[in-house]
Amino acid sequence: MRLASGHVAVQLNGEELAEIQKDFEGFRKGLVRLTPGGWLLPAPYTKFADKIYNTKFRETDVVIMTYPKCGTTWTQEVVWTMRNNPNLDHPKARAPVNVRSPFIDSDMLMETGKGDQDQASPLEKMIQQVLPNADPNEGIALQLTANIPDPRTIKTHLPFSLMTPDLLDTAKVIYVARNPKDVVLSFLHHSRLIKAIGYIGSLEQYINYFVKDDLIYGPYWEHLREAWPRRDHPNMHFVFYEDMKADPMAELRKLNQFLGTDLTEEQLEKIAHYTSFGEMKKREEETVLPKEMELLFKQEVKKKDGGLCRKGEAGGWKGRLNDMQEAKIDIWTKKNTLNLGIKFKYSS
Ligand code: A3P
Repeated sequence: MRLASGHVAVQLNGEELAEIQKDFEGFRKGLVRLTPGGWLLPAPYTKFADKIYNTKFRETDVVIMTYPKCGTTWTQEVVWTMRNNPNLDHPKARAPVNVRSPFIDSDMLMETGKGDQDQASPLEKMIQQVLPNADPNEGIALQLTANIPDPRTIKTHLPFSLMTPDLLDTAKVIYVARNPKDVVLSFLHHSRLIKAIGYIGSLEQYINYFVKDDLIYGPYWEHLREAWPRRDHPNMHFVFYEDMKADPMAELRKLNQFLGTDLTEEQLEKIAHYTSFGEMKKREEETVLPKEMELLFKQEVKKKDGGLCRKGEAGGWKGRLNDMQEAKIDIWTKKNTLNLGIKFKYSS
């Protein structure tokens, strides 16, 4: 199937699909691989791909783009708060973050769990409270994106090549990158937690999926390869998770300039505190994992290893990866960064 982006999407089948479905119980609707790029996505992506690609962005939009688990929700909360809630008194600030700041490609993920309607419906129901007439077949996250008032703060895990080519010339983009060793552990937890992904394999196998570019939204390095060369575009702001952790105020000041929000030091200090890991974890049940969404998560995983605000550390992988696992990621990193010139803190 040819997509508006020019990519060809091919359904995985046979042994390749069976192998993945054995470890990922949620991917019952299958997966597609796109050429060029090798992007791996849940099969329902093809239903929404052209709508996402043809989305009209506005000059006032800010798009937060990341490979999964790089601190997207954190950045959404920072940016949404700076733009909409600088005095921390907005009456809807505790609405779920993906309702205030739509996750434009999430319709395919909601569809992943279809077949057991009850898994997909909580997020749909949440959005339908805001948009009662949203038609799931048209993509409710897409309709939410189209209907929320300006200024919009939109989240995507898709890379540049799957978004409209004039994105950067129209809207501002904040790209967040994170050290692959922390990403793989965070994504492992996420893949075990979310029923619609339903990973039941080991850490060892998960690392193999990661370095073979067999996790959804990958290849990880290709995602970065598309973003990193654009880092000096005036509408692009490239952030490292590690830098946000090390000095949130310095990053908030840079964002203040990039977004043109003109906030005072005092306002930024308060926002840095409000969006710190501890504070966001306290609000997690309301803003990230509201009750309606409990059905989406495996409760035993949440109880044992936490929800989406898991550890919130830079370099937290240390002590959790054995020497072989570390070496595997290091070799893969070396191969992929030869001509890229990107360096992560806490990577060794
Ligand atoms: P860990 O699993 O390593 O703890 P995303 O939002 O892209 O899914 O990223 C999730 C990661 O960001 C998780 O990492 C989560 O704990 C971390 N995170 C969420 N809020 C954060 C915050 N306020 N400060 C630091 N890290 C945060």
